[in-house]
Amino acid sequence: MSTTTDYVSSVSLLSTVDFCYRGYTKLHRKLFMIKFIKKIINHVKFFYKGVDIDSPKNVTIGENVYIGKNVNIRGRGGVVIGDNVVIAFNTIILSANHNYKTGIPFGDDYILKPTIIGKGCWIGAGVIILPGVTIGDNVVVGAGTIVNQDIPDNAIICNDTKIKIIKYRKNAQ
Ligand SMILES: CC(C)(COP(=O)(O)OP(=O)(O)OC[C@H]1O[C@@H](n2cnc3c(N)ncnc32)[C@H](O)[C@@H]1OP(=O)(O)O)[C@@H](O)C(=O)NCCC(=O)NCCS
Repeated sequence: MSTTTDYVSSVSLLSTVDFCYRGYTKLHRKLFMIKFIKKIINHVKFFYKGVDIDSPKNVTIGENVYIGKNVNIRGRGGVVIGDNVVIAFNTIILSANHNYKTGIPFGDDYILKPTIIGKGCWIGAGVIILPGVTIGDNVVVGAGTIVNQDIPDNAIICNDTKIKIIKYRKNAQ
């Protein structure tokens, strides 16, 4: 893993991770934050700036994990990240749906779906992992993939996307 000055060690987590706790007092938020940071301080190798973790008490992070810039982890339904996982920038990990069957407005009625990422995975940039998905060990998830099903160990995956060239520009320099 390369080192750049952009990296921040887990020691300075407080200033780099946004924790989101709707409905809690400031004191509660601080207590949760300290608890969460204590939990991961010896485990997480790098957090990039802008990491956003919602409901961190439901998020379990293994050892030697790298979390890139602007990674967004919504932990409400439970998220488990195994050891030696790399999560590249702009990735989103989800673990709950609004209960859209109960009507509008959408409130605090959620369908919780735990999401699991196995050991030794590389999650590419801009991936979206949908609620309830289990990704096996040593999986490579290609950049931009929407992961909408369970993935077996050792798989290298991406969505089936084909570029369509629609036309060419005229008079371009
Ligand atoms: C998944 C990945 C590792 C595969 O790399 P690779 O083994 O060199 O694969 P190839 O480039 O030979 O591609 C094989 C096929 O998969 C397709 N493919 C590869 N990655 C894809 C992706 N992310 N989305 C859609 N299709 C993809 C290629 O277009 C190619 O299709 P074809 O066989 O129809 O031509 C790589 O493409 C990738 O997405 N890397 C993530 C990079 C990243 O996020 N870096 C962040 C810093 S950690």
